[in-house]
Amino acid sequence: MKDPVRVAVTGAAGQIGYSLLFRIASGQMLGEDQPVALQLLEITPALDALKGVAMELEDCAFPLLTEIVQTDDPEVAFGDVNYALLVGSRPRSKGMERKDLLEANGAIFTVQGRALSSSAASDVKVLVVGNPANTNALIAMSNAPDVPNDRFTAMTRLDHNRAKAQLAQKTGTSVNDVTKMTIWGNHSATQYPDIFHAEVGGRSAAELVNDQGWLESEFIPTVQQRGAAIIEARGLSSAASAANAAIDHMRDWALGTPDGDWVSMAIPSDGSYGVPEGIISSFPVTCSGGEYSIVQGLEIDEFSQGRIDATVAELQEERDTVAELGLV
Ligand code: NAI
Repeated sequence: MKDPVRVAVTGAAGQIGYSLLFRIASGQMLGEDQPVALQLLEITPALDALKGVAMELEDCAFPLLTEIVQTDDPEVAFGDVNYALLVGSRPRSKGMERKDLLEANGAIFTVQGRALSSSAASDVKVLVVGNPANTNALIAMSNAPDVPNDRFTAMTRLDHNRAKAQLAQKTGTSVNDVTKMTIWGNHSATQYPDIFHAEVGGRSAAELVNDQGWLESEFIPTVQQRGAAIIEARGLSSAASAANAAIDHMRDWALGTPDGDWVSMAIPSDGSYGVPEGIISSFPVTCSGGEYSIVQGLEIDEFSQGRIDATVAELQEERDTVAELGLV
């Protein structure tokens, strides 16, 4: 058996936490030969609820689960962690402006960035799920001087998986046939799900579909608005599929992407594809040996470029707002 790794999850008593923790503890994230210690962070009023979740984790008698830490102190939660999944955040409440939302989350992610910097293991990998995820990741990264920037990522894998499912349905195939899907930009309604490099059974997806009307008026809006559609239908947000995507994101980052395919991750831009440095934006990436790299050399046509520019512009605006607030 390998030595245990330490995995922090924030917002652990929330909806996503309830779907996520059991899968991490069962080995679905890091492999069935990898013991894990869970370090769970919640706000003080939610510690009782967290205790209930921890009791259920114990009652599963997971062979791989070595320890459960429950705390409201970020320094404790992030102590020596190798993986940190930042799920807890401040949701938008009625009448809240975007600036207020960014400010409220700034209060959380500055503190958590500092705590990661001072307490986490030197190999820590961070995934921000809590919205606005890209900019929350930017805030945490900017406040963590001792953690290399490239360890901060935000989740667009749910969008990626949604796009694969929509394309499989349209082409009457299985998701297993769909490869090389790309989400560009922000995890928000401006994101751009790009099928121009995607393949279905090894053939060009765009050529197979050959329906620009469907692309523009069905596929892209469906993927962009899927979260809202699930809230409308279920009365609650898409927690299980978000947890599933978080598992996928971390597993692929840690253990690698399959040959001949790639995934979408929001990562600090290095200027690739003209996306300015200084924002955390979604790109097509491959992962190997615990590192990700952007898929280079894809041809971007005018339609795609316009969509990428729009979502990148939104990220730059968010960055400017949090910079004005002194959070980055
Ligand atoms: P939830 O409201 O059920 O749970 C959030 C939990 O975070 C609560 O238990 C709360 O007490 C806790 N929390 C709040 N502030 C905290 C802090 N400073 N430290 C530690 N814990 C804190 O929400 P749910 O459904 O679990 O969603 C969590 C976040 O994930 C939301 O921001 C949601 O918008 C986002 N999300 C992101 C997706 C993505 O694709 N990137 C997809 C779906 C949800």
